[in-house]
Amino acid sequence: MKQLRPITPITILAAELGEIITDNAKELSSNPEILRRLKRCKDLAGGLDPYIERHTSAESDDLRRLNEATLSFDWDDRDEDTYVKGLEAEMLSGHVEGQFLKILVSITNAKRVLEIGVFSGYSALAMAEALPSDGELVACELDPRAADFAERHIGAAHLNCDVSVKIGKAIDTIAKLKDSAHPFDLVFIDADKPSYKDYVKTILDYGLIKIGGLFVVDNTLLQGEVYIEDGDMSTPAAGIHEFNEYLTNEPRVTQVLIPLRDGVTLAQRII
Ligand SMILES: C[S@@+](CC[C@H](N)C(=O)[O-])C[C@H]1O[C@@H](n2cnc3c(N)ncnc32)[C@H](O)[C@@H]1O
Repeated sequence: MKQLRPITPITILAAELGEIITDNAKELSSNPEILRRLKRCKDLAGGLDPYIERHTSAESDDLRRLNEATLSFDWDDRDEDTYVKGLEAEMLSGHVEGQFLKILVSITNAKRVLEIGVFSGYSALAMAEALPSDGELVACELDPRAADFAERHIGAAHLNCDVSVKIGKAIDTIAKLKDSAHPFDLVFIDADKPSYKDYVKTILDYGLIKIGGLFVVDNTLLQGEVYIEDGDMSTPAAGIHEFNEYLTNEPRVTQVLIPLRDGVTLAQRII
């Protein structure tokens, strides 16, 4: 199965420290105290995720199968313009974040959930597993190959609630939902980073999330790019940074940025 590259601040740090130790083995052999301390730093960083995984409830068989299928699937770019470029197995949120989402859906008693950015369907399935039988999850995905993959696996899962995958730009799907009589209880955002601000602002402007409803926004640390100062930010990091600044000054929500995986922001609509 595919070996995933590090994509969160803590796993990038662990990998970097590992490389420093390997690349400087000769010099470090004459400085055992520095080597010991570097190894301790590497273990502190590298041991965190495995420890969290071991102390998080196990995923369901349906989620485990979806995870395995995502890792085995060929996500390489297609030439046709209809496909999103750069899809990769690393995009999957996975066990711990899936369980986090599941608990959020459960403790907020959410019945209507909107997801923006489905990919292979892991986070959608995790949230759907926590919805009641009269619950509904509307999931937006631009890439038809990912949408098809997600629909097939979610369709085969043991779910009671209703899940619909809307193919197209999420902002267009949101616009179509504008006159919906029932606002969402929870909105999970995990798609194109430069659009994050538009997604939250539009959903608030349209009243598509209820007062007290929760935005859950993924990748708000963007591999640490938003806070380390070593030159120009990538386009996704600039989008996330703009979003974080916007949200901090958005009076309609109160929020907290949690350093879970690549950063997850919880923002509750208060007015
Ligand atoms: C990080 S992945 C989502 C991962 C998924 N939420 C999970 O936890 O497994 C981002 C997804 O957003 C999709 N996407 C990118 N731009 C989009 C847009 N404008 N509208 C809807 N989906 C978009 C991509 O095709 C990709 O599948």
